[in-house]
Amino acid sequence: MKRTLIVGNWKMHLNVHEASLLVHRLNERIPVHRTVEVVLAPSLLALQPISVELDRRKFRLAAQNAYYKDAGAFTGEVSYTMLRELVHYAIIGHSERRMYFDETLEVVRDKVAAAVRNEIIPILCIGETNHERLQGETQRVLHDQLTTALFHLTSEDVETMVIAYEPVWAIGTGQTAKPDEIAKAIGWIKHNLYELYGTQVAETTRILYGAGVEPEFVGSTLSIEGIDGLLVGSASINYQKFADIVDAAYRLGHERPTDG
Ligand code: 13P
Repeated sequence: MKRTLIVGNWKMHLNVHEASLLVHRLNERIPVHRTVEVVLAPSLLALQPISVELDRRKFRLAAQNAYYKDAGAFTGEVSYTMLRELVHYAIIGHSERRMYFDETLEVVRDKVAAAVRNEIIPILCIGETNHERLQGETQRVLHDQLTTALFHLTSEDVETMVIAYEPVWAIGTGQTAKPDEIAKAIGWIKHNLYELYGTQVAETTRILYGAGVEPEFVGSTLSIEGIDGLLVGSASINYQKFADIVDAAYRLGHERPTDG
């Protein structure tokens, strides 16, 4: 059976002290769960101190970003090689990086390859903007983002990785995607995985939903067929809300069908 995966993307919030405090609170509030895997993605600066404080039975770490070259004269950058052994996962292709830092499909592809080369599991984010949605381009966008990013990977690599469907128009906007819209996108992602790599990969690769996730949406979202977990933004820096999300996922885990 697949464990439900709950990832907290802290984005550019919390200094090292505040990050450490949040970990302390989460640690008090969240028990060890066999059926839920909880991943925290603090700022790059907080990763190292948190890695020392973290209860590894409860939490794993993810990087929010890194550069795709392993080493070299790239002032200001941190590589996936440097993050090796510090993090388990890396969020790649987040819409905020595509939008504000001009990350192209090719840059995302190279970052995914760099993470895999350094034994870090990519959490690849894909999703359509409001404009693309209104133009009826959702499927094309998801297809392009997915196929380019997976270009250098073997089916074994893809089976281990995580894909997060994050409709850009519902991130931090107060708008929510309806369960049937989410289900349609997840079905399309699975269909693409099937076309590219066959049945086993389509069934095994974990797929998350992320955009405006709040504790009260956990039940309805995790019940959508094909969803293996959630990528949480703003609610993940509120320890009550994040712990409530993990609790709800744990309770639901017992009711979800085994699919892996
Ligand atoms: P919100 O949960 O704040 O909408 O952010 C979602 C997100 O971008 C997670 O990566």
